[in-house]
Amino acid sequence: MLVGTAINVKYLSESAYISTVAREYNMVEPENEMKWTAIRPNADTFDFSAGDQIVDFAQTHGMKIRGHNLLWHLYNPDWLAKGHYTSPQLAHLMEEHIEKVTTHYRGKVFAWDIVNEAIDGHGQLRHSIWYDQPGIGMADKGTAYIEQAFRWAHAADPDALLFYNDAGAEAVNAHSDAIYAMVEDFRHRGVPINGIGLQMHILNLNPDAKSIQKNINRFVKLGMQVHITEMDVAVPVDADRKVKNPEDLKKQSEIYAQITKACMKTSGCTALQTWGFTDKYSWIGWFTKHTKGDALPFDRNYQPKRAYTAIHEGLANSPKPRKSSSH
Ligand code: XIL
Repeated sequence: MLVGTAINVKYLSESAYISTVAREYNMVEPENEMKWTAIRPNADTFDFSAGDQIVDFAQTHGMKIRGHNLLWHLYNPDWLAKGHYTSPQLAHLMEEHIEKVTTHYRGKVFAWDIVNEAIDGHGQLRHSIWYDQPGIGMADKGTAYIEQAFRWAHAADPDALLFYNDAGAEAVNAHSDAIYAMVEDFRHRGVPINGIGLQMHILNLNPDAKSIQKNINRFVKLGMQVHITEMDVAVPVDADRKVKNPEDLKKQSEIYAQITKACMKTSGCTALQTWGFTDKYSWIGWFTKHTKGDALPFDRNYQPKRAYTAIHEGLANSPKPRKSSSH
């Protein structure tokens, strides 16, 4: 079982940070260092320095590395997002980027989020430079641009596991139904896809664990590996950024336990990863305008919380089935 965390180069000089990651995890993912903004400061330059630092750290500690991500509608550098490129130019940029980045990290990154968040909550394709603004020339062909990205990635690194990663598609809903239909079609036609990343940013303390379990199982049954890629469980905080109701931390730990168990119950759910590990550094405060926080298994002083114990127990007490349980 892979148990991972997103890490950020900014903190790799902090000894408590690195010793906690090295002690607790066997997989890491760069929080931002392999995104376009980091790797492509301009159209002509590839800068792998920050991503390479993550790789060095992981290799020193014998950890696996998940790559994140090659295409996204957000977090693109201005030169790209506002560059008014034509479709043929975008197709070229996309192919070149996928080829160069996966080749650079070949043999190092074992699994890639090829496309991130391309489908919305209603199950519709999101507008993006890659799809239809103006897109790579496949704007009238639905998921064809996603397929193209997977094919280019597979050609450049045939050994890497290729994932489609998304948020809000954790339970059975219109969003995950659309992803399911896409994967079914890809499988049918031999498009190289190996897995689905379920981000698992839980913003309310009431996820439908049964439905999440059902959703994990249906993707596994379709031949996908499932990775929980970005889990955190946000709790309401006051203006001083203190947890409003301490009982919420208990609820939080129960949710971590439920999701850990849901993943452990299915042999095809092969990785459980959180989006950071210490409440000292978490994107959730920024994301919720500081109405929520303390979403991770370690507190700001790197002390394990109830959530940590819950994950730990969930991993220890639920042995993986040898065959995929599909129901
Ligand atoms: C977030 C990072 O945590 C932030 O530092 C950055 O400013 C924006 O991106 N879904 C994803 C991640 O796939 O890449 C996002 O990471 C969080 C939501």
